[in-house]
Amino acid sequence: MSELSAGFLKNIKRVKKMTDSQEEVGAMTPLQLYERLNAQGEQVRCLKTAKAEKAEIDVAVQLLLKLKTDYKHLTGQDYKAGCPPPENVVNQDNGAATDGIDEEDNVDPWNVSTSNAKGVDYDKLIVRFGSSKIETELVDRIEKVTGQKPHRFLRRGIFFSHRDMHQVLDAYEKNKSFYLYTGRGPSSEAMHVGHLIPFIFTKWLQDVFDIPLVIQLTDDEKYLWKDLAIEECHRFAVENAKDIIACGFDVNKTFIFSDFDYMGSSPEFYRNVVKIQKHVTYNQVKGIFGFTDSDCIGKISFPAIQAAPSFSNSFPQIFGGRKDVQCLIPCAIDQDPYFRMTRDVAPRIGYPKPALLHSSFFPALQGAQTKMSASDANSSIFLTDTPKQIKNKINKHAFSGGKDTIEEHRKFGGNPDVDVSFMYLTFFLDDDEQLEKIKQDYSSGALLTGELKKILIETLQPMIAQHQERRKQVTEETVKQFMTPRPLNFKL
Ligand code: TYM
Repeated sequence: MSELSAGFLKNIKRVKKMTDSQEEVGAMTPLQLYERLNAQGEQVRCLKTAKAEKAEIDVAVQLLLKLKTDYKHLTGQDYKAGCPPPENVVNQDNGAATDGIDEEDNVDPWNVSTSNAKGVDYDKLIVRFGSSKIETELVDRIEKVTGQKPHRFLRRGIFFSHRDMHQVLDAYEKNKSFYLYTGRGPSSEAMHVGHLIPFIFTKWLQDVFDIPLVIQLTDDEKYLWKDLAIEECHRFAVENAKDIIACGFDVNKTFIFSDFDYMGSSPEFYRNVVKIQKHVTYNQVKGIFGFTDSDCIGKISFPAIQAAPSFSNSFPQIFGGRKDVQCLIPCAIDQDPYFRMTRDVAPRIGYPKPALLHSSFFPALQGAQTKMSASDANSSIFLTDTPKQIKNKINKHAFSGGKDTIEEHRKFGGNPDVDVSFMYLTFFLDDDEQLEKIKQDYSSGALLTGELKKILIETLQPMIAQHQERRKQVTEETVKQFMTPRPLNFKL
């Protein structure tokens, strides 16, 4: 054996010894973890140079990724070789960072992508974000507490992750109620079907728990992030409010607000924003959101504005100044970074942590590697689409899990796990038995891709047409009612 490879082996053994005992990681200081990462990086390099077995290299790389995630979780910063952590790095709420460095899946408020045709690996995301899986037991409990059949989004695991939902139910059972908070960043006039998912579910939650709801329209966020004028963002907020109202929210229990309007009119809201801003460092937001030195300061301070509605005293007209009303936030998991920050800061400013329910993503027509995007017309079905547009988009663009020829398809069957039309049906076809039959028939080859697409088209066309009809009924007066700060009608 050459001296060089003997050296490598010695090195590998030394580093392996250091990295085998995973349980130590939780007790490490940022500097110790940094040194451990250096060692693990060295091991990966040694293994690669020594042309070790692929399986062995894979194990070492996985451990390296895990340590990087732990490091970001612990310090709020990316690991960089040669840059040890500064002394005063801070830990975040029980979630890891979202950057997706070297990871297969990338999920943050601005990007969602994966190389897996089945979509994001949500189980892995739960581990990375430090949230909890919505188990059958929780779904059963919601059914018991509300006396209602769980929404299909719960029955089918579309809402798949949560934070503190058991605690919310414990309190609710003791007659301590809560409020809902969700939102929309109005980046364009037309919303797509994916945007509806949290709103459809929030409407169901409002109905079954009979509770108040606040909806934030972050026109300020869109002004800061996009090349749009303030007036445009505000106009989009009002237009989007119409689509949101068309989901059927109860005007007596719902307050919708534009940040541009409400921030200036509510001293209590602004005070909370500033309290949050005082208790979160630049280091933390950099770690959570990946801001860089060239991002404008508006972006850097914006997360405090999305955090503030999580605290009930931001709405004195609704909660009479009470700061202890529990908040529950339904949203897709891309928004979680905002609320990890919020949950981290909450106890430090004397407020309860908001609870969360996270949904998975309604995929783009082209496949589950990314979510629908409002900026790509062909990736999405918009709430403004005509029946003909819906039909053409699905027939032309919906990624199929079917086989290349009818003969092959009949023989081998299609793959519903990667088929976008089937995925869309899981979101919108309410009948469980019918959905199961479609799955069986498609998998066996009895149902062809064209036939599956037809079922989807016939499901979406009336659904969107009905939405458009309800939206038409929403007058300027109705919007004004929803968007006026006022008391709401509920019992806490
Ligand atoms: P925005 O406008 O990007 O998205 C609005 C809501 O829709 C969810 N969402 C999706 N859900 C399923 N499938 C998709 N393809 C999909 N695309 C978007 C988002 O998770 C979100 O719940 N910064 C926020 C606005 C906001 C907010 C909030 C959202 C302010 N406060 C509180 C949720 C909760 C935004 O730009 O959302």
